Amino acid sequence: MAEIDLLAKLPQSRRNVNARAIAKTPEIIAIARQYGQDYFDGRREYGYGGYRYDGRWVPVAEDIIAHFRLKPGDRVLDVGCAKGFLVKDLLTACPGLEAFGIDVSEYALMHCEPEVVGRLHLGSCEHLPFPNGSFAAVLSINTIHNCDRAGVIRSLKEIQRLSGGRAFVQVDSYHTAEQRALFLDWVLTAKFHDYPAGWRQVFAEAGYTGDYNWTLV
Ligand SMILES: C[S@@+](CC[C@H](N)C(=O)[O-])C[C@H]1O[C@@H](n2cnc3c(N)ncnc32)[C@H](O)[C@@H]1O
Repeated sequence: MAEIDLLAKLPQSRRNVNARAIAKTPEIIAIARQYGQDYFDGRREYGYGGYRYDGRWVPVAEDIIAHFRLKPGDRVLDVGCAKGFLVKDLLTACPGLEAFGIDVSEYALMHCEPEVVGRLHLGSCEHLPFPNGSFAAVLSINTIHNCDRAGVIRSLKEIQRLSGGRAFVQVDSYHTAEQRALFLDWVLTAKFHDYPAGWRQVFAEAGYTGDYNWTLV
């Protein structure tokens, strides 16, 4: 188990935390948590403000393939794959790799990249409908924190079950009280978040032995 930045080459997205904090209401949070059109392609206060493929995951896919030494024929699963951008770039970066995704958003799957049609499943990270040890690596980026603490533990157990610990999860966190305050102004969908020490406790409770990193606002 290691803390590792596999998203080091992903460009930072611009965030207007003040605008988000002012706009945020319980109704906006409820709409964002539906993970529909508003969240992905609606106005910025609901989520992404437009979630479109631009190739930014290509270098990340290359680093993931190198880190897990993935080769043609290996199966890899992206949990919380959204429209399948990372799945598409894994397929491009390693021709012959069997890359798949799963996401709770029917809207995202219905608007996926054409290259990944048939590779994306509808479902929750809390219940991954695949046999034990069936993937050479399982990834989950900015997704499992959308569950409550019990759901996060169920998700980590599922990721561990499929991957045997050859996995990477990235989750919302903060190192200082100031970072936490900024995060609370920004956050829309995450139901569980904590300092790294709290997350490591959750990893231990779930028996998760894979790699991990933090998303900081
Ligand atoms: C912040 S987006 C991250 C998408 C993608 N992994 C990325 O990094 O660009 C969070 C994703 O988690 C999905 N999601 C939320 N709750 C989920 C759940 N319980 N199970 C699976 N996916 C979930 C959402 O639909 C959305 O696609």
